[in-house]
Amino acid sequence: MKKIKLLAISGSLRKNSYNSAALKMISNISPEHIEIIIGDISKLPLFNPDLEPGIIPALDKIKLELNASSGLIISSPEYAHGISAPMKNVLDWLVSSFEFPDSPIMIINTAPRAHHGLDVLKEVLKTMSGNIIENAYVSIPLLGSVLVDGEISEASHFEAKLSEGLNNFYNEVVKIE
Ligand SMILES: Cc1cc2nc3c(=O)[nH]c(=O)nc-3n(C[C@H](O)[C@H](O)[C@H](O)COP(=O)(O)O)c2cc1C
Repeated sequence: MKKIKLLAISGSLRKNSYNSAALKMISNISPEHIEIIIGDISKLPLFNPDLEPGIIPALDKIKLELNASSGLIISSPEYAHGISAPMKNVLDWLVSSFEFPDSPIMIINTAPRAHHGLDVLKEVLKTMSGNIIENAYVSIPLLGSVLVDGEISEASHFEAKLSEGLNNFYNEVVKIE
């Protein structure tokens, strides 16, 4: 099977984030032919285009990882019916990059009742020419699950859904490449 690399970004900086836990889970269950790198957006400065001519190591790292990846996995919470600030921040930094456009994107939603933030996220990603792979979308109700060291302690019933979404994503990504 063709080996691919995927970059995963959580829209939460919380230590016990359900969205980050979802990404750890999908990384733990990913088969050998799919390598998932979890990106760190916590050190990005607040978006300010004036800073761009300078060196921004956290941004350069994300761009390098995105460039080396065949696709992007996003799991992000909803705050006040909108996109979380850390997720919007990284997307704003990537708007004018050459790395982002046409990236295949898998979206994970850890709060299935929340749809406003998801709708806005999709609109932003489409505006940025991201390629949202709809049949890779996974919705899993993680809120309220027990986390141990930032990981879901009883993950098994969510793993099948993540695995199915990841497999669909892989098939689309390989077709595109
Ligand atoms: C100030 C604040 C506003 C929130 N607004 C919403 C909201 O509009 N819709 C929603 O579904 N959840 C909302 N939530 C719940 C968060 O999305 C939820 O806590 C989520 O687990 C945070 O993501 P994380 O666990 O990955 O950090 C809000 C939480 C806080 C603290």
